[in-house]
Amino acid sequence: MRVLGLESSCDETAAAVVVDGRRALSNVISSQIELHRRYGGVVPELASRAHVVQIVPVLDEALEKARLRLGDLDGIAVTNGPGLVGALLVAVQAAKALAFATGLPLVGVNHVEGHLLAARLIGDGVPGAPTPPEPPFVGLIVSGGHTSLYLAEDFGKYQLLGSTRDDAAGEAYDKVAKMLGLPYPGGARIDALAREGNPAAIHFPRAIIKGAPLDFSFSGLKTAVLTHLKRHPAPQDAELADLCASFQEAVADTLTAKALRAIKRHAPRGAPQRLVLCGGVACNGRLRDLAAERAGEAGVELFLPPPILCTDNAAMIAVAGTHALMRGERSNLSLDARPSWRLGMSP
Ligand code: KG4
Ligand code: ZN
Repeated sequence: MRVLGLESSCDETAAAVVVDGRRALSNVISSQIELHRRYGGVVPELASRAHVVQIVPVLDEALEKARLRLGDLDGIAVTNGPGLVGALLVAVQAAKALAFATGLPLVGVNHVEGHLLAARLIGDGVPGAPTPPEPPFVGLIVSGGHTSLYLAEDFGKYQLLGSTRDDAAGEAYDKVAKMLGLPYPGGARIDALAREGNPAAIHFPRAIIKGAPLDFSFSGLKTAVLTHLKRHPAPQDAELADLCASFQEAVADTLTAKALRAIKRHAPRGAPQRLVLCGGVACNGRLRDLAAERAGEAGVELFLPPPILCTDNAAMIAVAGTHALMRGERSNLSLDARPSWRLGMSP
């Protein structure tokens, strides 16, 4: 089953072709990071316009790299939420136009489900390569827009276990980077600087939410960094590295502790315990190392997609779409963007 995936929910225009929900024949991503950098964040209207310009070339490239024509496909999957409405509409309209022109089945996909299933592309179906996660598994999605824990009971069946009360983890990274005068998006830059720093140099708080142990909060941590900067302004060199490492340690500690707690509480008894990391922040070196360490100690199987599958891409959308199409789900030409669609909630 060859499925085309299309994605334009935020600041990446992406198209990919995936076979049987396991093997990406192409995974083309046009990033708008340069466009938004000078504004220090994504400007929705600029994002929509750039998607309009990029969507057809990106689609053409994805088909060309897969060495396929539209007629060789078996279905089309498109992200229709959550995300920026004007941005989402671009891929949704493109997908509907393609479905109308070709008669191929169309399915709308939740962006977060895409992230959760990105790890299905691990190993790419090559014999002897690592096996991908089978549900049930617990998924920790950490990106610029989301920080949530899900129990993936089956393909298409997700239970929200906890989510952030304020900032997403990536947002906290980007805001702290801004305070430090680092370019947007700052996550990867903090990660790089932290490698030279001492994670125990400054003790930053780990938020505990009474009555909701699987929820997250990063606003207190952000304020703690700001307070520290007022006392020790404009850190340079070793001081800057120590601050980055200490902030990063607080984020990685909280995320991994809650993910393992989620498994303890919610993983079905008797089934192998599996944890999947996904979203842009899952590229973070310390988060990956600490997750591996703690999962190893707890006897939990850990699935870490390569960075290209952690950040926004269309291959993950094609994977989720393949499973939806196999379940018989179809969208018609009235498919619309759903900017605040929460996974696990009905339309
Ligand atoms: O999943 P993604 O590409 O887009 C969203 O859906 O948000 O995630 C982008 C986020 C940004 O906040 C970025 O700073 C963060 O992921 N990020 C990182 C790293 N690489 C990207 N955060 C920490 N460490 C990294 N290495
Ligand atoms: Zn995303």
